[in-house]
Amino acid sequence: MRNPIIVALDVPSSDQALRLARLVAPNVGAFKVGKELFVSAGPDFIRQLRATGAAVFLDLKFHDIPNTVAKAVAAATRLDIQMLTIHAGGGAAMMRAAEGAAQETAASLGRPAPLVLGVTVLTSFNDAGLAELGISDGVEKHVERLALLAAGAGLRGLVCSPLELAPLRRLLSPEIQLVTPGIRTGADPSDDQKRTLSAGEAVRAGATWLVIGRPIYAAGDPAEAARVLWESLGK
Ligand code: C5P
Repeated sequence: MRNPIIVALDVPSSDQALRLARLVAPNVGAFKVGKELFVSAGPDFIRQLRATGAAVFLDLKFHDIPNTVAKAVAAATRLDIQMLTIHAGGGAAMMRAAEGAAQETAASLGRPAPLVLGVTVLTSFNDAGLAELGISDGVEKHVERLALLAAGAGLRGLVCSPLELAPLRRLLSPEIQLVTPGIRTGADPSDDQKRTLSAGEAVRAGATWLVIGRPIYAAGDPAEAARVLWESLGK
């Protein structure tokens, strides 16, 4: 079985991130680099992380006109990352341009294309927040609409909350990869994550990849926490 655990490197410095990555690498499948770390440590940090042999998920959630997003995706692909995010709300043309740029750039380098993941509705939104934007359908329906739009535009994966896994699996073809944060073990406090599943429950509900941050990096022994999580999946 491929290790589906992606560790969110939500730590302030590249030194801390590299230390954490080396510590947990034997028991995880990839590392997620978000806006804070990328804005402070940049492409050099991505190159250092890739040099350890780790797979990298660049979570910058691009959303702009298609041409601009395509160029950003091409640049990310040249960094040899394995996954990246764009906002599905950027529309079908933007998503097609992003997927096309990933495919073309990777082909020109003789590498597999990174997985371009669509982000549907941020979990910070509720129905009232969407209504303020003129979207009266509610979160559930809007997530489904954007997921179908993303799949129709050629994206091969989506980010979704644990509770969206089952409905999206019913809606989408099985090849679509689903990446889900909000993973907690029974023992953890769920901190600010309100809707959580355990790693095993999320995989059974159809997750392809699990993004896990605090249960690993804030554990007393991150390497052991990663090992226990990986083992809980019956590796
Ligand atoms: O520490 P925790 O396991 O909650 O980290 C989850 C990671 O997934 C963080 O990097 C967080 O920003 C990200 N994320 C999330 N919920 C979303 C989207 C992304 O927790 N809806």
